[in-house]
Amino acid sequence: MDTVVEIRELHKHFGVIRAVDGINLSVKPGEIYGLLGPNGSGKTTLIRLLIGLLEPTSGSVTLLAQAMPDKAVLAQTGYMTQASALYEDLTVRENITFFAEMCGRIDRAWIDEVLELVELKDRSRSLVRTLSGGLKQRTSLACSLAHKPRLLLLDEPTVGIDPQLRATFWSYFRQLASSGVTLIVSSHVMDEAERCDRLGFMRLGKLLAEGSASELRDQANARTLEEAFLRFAVGNMEGGEG
Ligand SMILES: Nc1ncnc2c1ncn2[C@@H]1O[C@H](COP(=O)(O)OP(=O)(O)OP(=O)(O)O)[C@@H](O)[C@H]1O
Ligand SMILES: [Mg+2]
Repeated sequence: MDTVVEIRELHKHFGVIRAVDGINLSVKPGEIYGLLGPNGSGKTTLIRLLIGLLEPTSGSVTLLAQAMPDKAVLAQTGYMTQASALYEDLTVRENITFFAEMCGRIDRAWIDEVLELVELKDRSRSLVRTLSGGLKQRTSLACSLAHKPRLLLLDEPTVGIDPQLRATFWSYFRQLASSGVTLIVSSHVMDEAERCDRLGFMRLGKLLAEGSASELRDQANARTLEEAFLRFAVGNMEGGEG
């Protein structure tokens, strides 16, 4: 398989809002692809279109060589939502097990490993509603990994997480990618972007530019990614966008 994610001329319009406005994108196996853009640029909408939670206005999505929506592909895909999708009255372990069960794949040794990774082993019996925001965030990541997915879609996974654990998450993302898992990670934190293999700058539902962090800086003749983003955004507006 040459590409794990293939997006063609994808549009999602909500009335006059073009949340996703003609995106073409492909992601290779084992790649970490970063979706970067300000609030409202369409990152969450794009991710929801990818796994079929939203129906496109037009265009197509192919995941793991299957045209979406496709239930079998969902069982191989992990999705960490931006807003918590946890069951507050279940414990940490029960939440993780529940997600694994939904995909028909409970491997207790793996669930222990995942709990270790997110540093929640000693809180595995705590009810989710008693956790702090960051601990809930870690539980959400654990749930998205519960069924050993081949493709991981992470919508701002490190928001609310302390710097030390954030570094741990990123080294784990890299480890997953080395083992062949493909990751799409949305963020507006530019220093995280450096850790992605490739980035897509999003603005107003469009991809402004794509490339590695250093390619994007070079292309925009910018010192930082923030500066590069702004230059691409200005260039795009001068290019006739309203
Ligand atoms: N269900 C909906 N109905 C109407 N408009 C929507 C809907 N979902 C998203 N939008 C609009 O689409 C645009 C893109 O939203 P989206 O949530 O994809 O942005 P985002 O890049 O994820 O932003 P953030 O960084 O704040 O999470 C916004 O203008 C948003 O208000
Ligand atoms: Mg979002």
